[in-house]
Amino acid sequence: MATRQNIESVLIEKRVFSPPPTFAARARLKQSEREALQQRAASDYEGFWADLARQHLAWLKPFTQTLDQANAPNYRWFADGELNVSANCLDRHLAERADKPAIVFEGEPGDTRSLSYRELLAEVSRLANALRSLGLQAGDRVVIYMPLVPEAIVAMHACARIGAVHSVVFGGFSAISLKDRIEDAGARLLITADGGWRGGQIVELKSAADKALSLGCPTIEHSVVLRRTGQEIPMQPGRDLWWHELVPSQSPVCKPTPVGAEHPLFLLYTSGSTGSPKGIQHASAGYLLGAKLTSEWVFDLRDDDVFWCTADVGWVTGHSYVAYGPLAAGATLVMYEGAPMFPDGGRFWQTCQAHGVTIFYTAPTAIRALMKLGDAIPQAYDLSKIRLLGTVGEPINPEAWVWYHRVIGREQCPIVDTWWQTETGAIMISPLPGITATKPGSCTQPLPGINVDIVDDNGVAVTAPDAGGYLVIKKPWPSMLRTIWGDNDRYLSTYWEKFQGRYYVAGDSAHRDADGYYWIMGRIDDVLNVAGHRLGTMEIESALVAHPKVAEAAVVGQQHEIKGESVFAYVVLNGARPAGADATALSDELRRWVAEQLGAIAKPDTIRFADNLPKTRSGKIMRRLLRSIARNEPITQDLSTLENPAIIEQLRGEAAIESNPRRSR
Ligand code: PRX
Repeated sequence: MATRQNIESVLIEKRVFSPPPTFAARARLKQSEREALQQRAASDYEGFWADLARQHLAWLKPFTQTLDQANAPNYRWFADGELNVSANCLDRHLAERADKPAIVFEGEPGDTRSLSYRELLAEVSRLANALRSLGLQAGDRVVIYMPLVPEAIVAMHACARIGAVHSVVFGGFSAISLKDRIEDAGARLLITADGGWRGGQIVELKSAADKALSLGCPTIEHSVVLRRTGQEIPMQPGRDLWWHELVPSQSPVCKPTPVGAEHPLFLLYTSGSTGSPKGIQHASAGYLLGAKLTSEWVFDLRDDDVFWCTADVGWVTGHSYVAYGPLAAGATLVMYEGAPMFPDGGRFWQTCQAHGVTIFYTAPTAIRALMKLGDAIPQAYDLSKIRLLGTVGEPINPEAWVWYHRVIGREQCPIVDTWWQTETGAIMISPLPGITATKPGSCTQPLPGINVDIVDDNGVAVTAPDAGGYLVIKKPWPSMLRTIWGDNDRYLSTYWEKFQGRYYVAGDSAHRDADGYYWIMGRIDDVLNVAGHRLGTMEIESALVAHPKVAEAAVVGQQHEIKGESVFAYVVLNGARPAGADATALSDELRRWVAEQLGAIAKPDTIRFADNLPKTRSGKIMRRLLRSIARNEPITQDLSTLENPAIIEQLRGEAAIESNPRRSR
């Protein structure tokens, strides 16, 4: 198998943590219910999902067919039913919890705001009416490029209310990335803000948006601009409209547009192993069902909970566990705009204390960074209300897991390590907090109805304990992606081709221990996971090569003690290989360049200049070899096909000029 090295299982962790009895006694899902769900899914898979879809969603027109496999693997779920996603998250709570806070917001400068379900619905309806007044209709695409403020959720729900398809672009992405996504989606409208607060600085969203629009984006008719930071920004007459001039005068009542279950709810661009980012397309009903069910099953949400998922709405976690799942479940969610360490490393814990957070969900990167600051900081805050902790986005190392358990959870809170992807729409593998005994570093077992397996290169299930293989999902599930926007062939080849359409290939390797627990080992494709964010090596390489001085580039991941992985770039210049101060200056220039092309998260931590790159005789760059060199691992690969063996010493040894401003290991 080409990826043998990745797939070898190395992590051995023996500790087991049972759910605290008091938690287990109150949990929404008990062992008997889980067993009943599992049995139902095993005996009548479609009936299982149909029951849940009827119980959990408010339908405007009931569905009669559960799963349509006619064009598999382009599956359709509940296809002849109709509903509205925003109505399912907002209107349906009016009877029971109209005045309950839906969103408790804290801005980075310290401003706070709370919106009840009634207020959130009114705000969503006003914006939805404004969008209608601009001529937007069901199916039109709207790009949202905003700070993490309540209006970002309002914008998403306003789109859902009128059946428009939103595509949120993370505010850390560059103008060029924004332009690419707007153009791929063919968006008619952009919703943005003057800026947002991050680390005490203004993130200049409007100026990036203006630049994006000046580079192309012919389909954009208007930008709606929220005033958040208040700095002077230019507004283009006719095109740019202030939110505060457009929205408040609208009616707070807006009849939701019924849409078919398969109507696209959103596109979310994510990195793949080749080419440009792909627009993952999610459907309305199946997605919402997955987000709601998992919010209840995995996060055990009840009416008195205060749920804080720290993800930005620019990522899928911020869709499923900020904008949709918790609201569909009627929860109160906390939203914090800014950087985790601003003004100091106590910000997260202070926010938990101030708002009485009971369930806290974040990424291992954040946990590792906060752990490094020591126990005294979190111990200075009252975290006693927290009853459940979660992690997502990357494997968590046992040391960080145990710290999270001991210091943040005071050894009283279950931890749910949730495995899923932009493509899966909702959590797939996770402990059920009142039932599952957890092992640090394992996402434990698939949720009821989710058919996960590990297979070898031939698609045969790997049954020996701890033997690694490809993580696959063997049956379609409602919250799965439907296609890649505008490129169904890429959908088929990326996720289904490897095993002839039989299984969904997640792109991760994993192993299963003797107790049937899953351990995710990382990506098997050329996708990096930097601080829980997916970055395609090809995208970063293309950005580097677009610089006039760069002839060739190869990007690999290097282990990083906080971020999990960091970007390591080998660069060959058009001219001579630079040395000393020249190398440092050029490295800085290339790092800035990548930030401009893609966004700051894609900046290489390390750039190593070389005369050329190791290639096979057929001209393929030997990436695994480069990865081993970047990680200081012994080279075990077969070098007999290497065209230019002498290059290895240069890439590895003193001959290579390295510039590495922020390397941690
Ligand atoms: O490699 C897996 C990793 O993140 C990838 C999905 O990235 P993205 O689509 O950006 O979604 C992240 C948030 C859901 C996966 O293919 N990943 C996600 N969760 C875990 C994980 N790796 C290990 N453990 C997890 N709990």
